[in-house]
Amino acid sequence: MSSEPATTDLPEPIEVPEPIAELVRSASTVGVLTGAGMSAESGVPTFRDAQTGLWARYDPMTLATPEAFAEQPDLVWAWYAWRLRLMQEVAPNAGHLALARWGRRVPVGIATQNVDDLHERAGSIDVAHLHGTLFDLRCFDCGRPYHGTVEIPTEQVERLEPPHCQVCFGPVRPGIVWFGEMLPAEAFERAQALAVGVDLLLVVGTSGLVQPAAGIPLLAKTSGVPTIELNPDETPFSDHADQVWRTTAAVGLPAMAALLDDDDRD
Ligand SMILES: NC(=O)c1ccc[n+]([C@@H]2O[C@H](COP(=O)([O-])OP(=O)(O)OC[C@H]3O[C@@H](n4cnc5c(N)ncnc54)[C@H](O)[C@@H]3O)[C@@H](O)[C@H]2O)c1
Ligand SMILES: [Zn+2]
Repeated sequence: MSSEPATTDLPEPIEVPEPIAELVRSASTVGVLTGAGMSAESGVPTFRDAQTGLWARYDPMTLATPEAFAEQPDLVWAWYAWRLRLMQEVAPNAGHLALARWGRRVPVGIATQNVDDLHERAGSIDVAHLHGTLFDLRCFDCGRPYHGTVEIPTEQVERLEPPHCQVCFGPVRPGIVWFGEMLPAEAFERAQALAVGVDLLLVVGTSGLVQPAAGIPLLAKTSGVPTIELNPDETPFSDHADQVWRTTAAVGLPAMAALLDDDDRD
């Protein structure tokens, strides 16, 4: 047995596969498409794992729609209030922090499907939210932004009256894109511009099942932009990616970003 003292709890940095390292080192602009897997190691559940406790018997597909909110605003708002509560308890993981650090070396544009704010909290500046964010509240009736107070219960409740619009008294909804709704045009255009305009596109933690975001990596591919998928599991995009790394966001991204630190020491 080794008698060496344990000096750190940090895991050993892992080695980046050489073809991926080459792409990382040579990219002077980087685009990143992220999905729920990006935030999984922060403790934000992916959609497939999202329903626990009280919410286990509800399908997100039936809660995350304008029709559901119109019919049962108290039920849908209670679900979002719980998700807002979850957000208060989580922090950016090593993958979010690595992208922010990378962005201080070269321009890194992020298009995320996540409705959390963990990229911003990590320090990334250029972030387009394809599916909106939980935090941009607005009136369901008149669309005006809502900046009033929000009560967030400390325990799961099944019914909670949403706040009311300060102008028309309509119910307040989260600023996310529900099933059946259009994506915010500006964010989608930004994602498309990244896909065709960068030296390297990373596709991190997205199942590639939700359209139209799923088309972004293919757009890069047809534009001749090299793509790298980071995902522990196979996805529909895997066969099309130039490189695939079966790793997690919080493991792979720090190792990739560290390659740029090494370059500085040369
Ligand atoms: N954090 C959030 O904001 C959040 C959470 C849940 C769901 N959503 C929404 O759910 C929808 C689902 O689409 P999606 O593709 O984003 O998610 P998804 O749940 O369909 O797929 C998640 C993907 O992440 C991969 N993954 C799991 N853990 C990972 C890790 N540690 N590192 C890297 N990859 C990992 C999985 O293999 C899977 O392919 C989106 O519309 C998104 O807005 C958002
Ligand atoms: Zn209103």
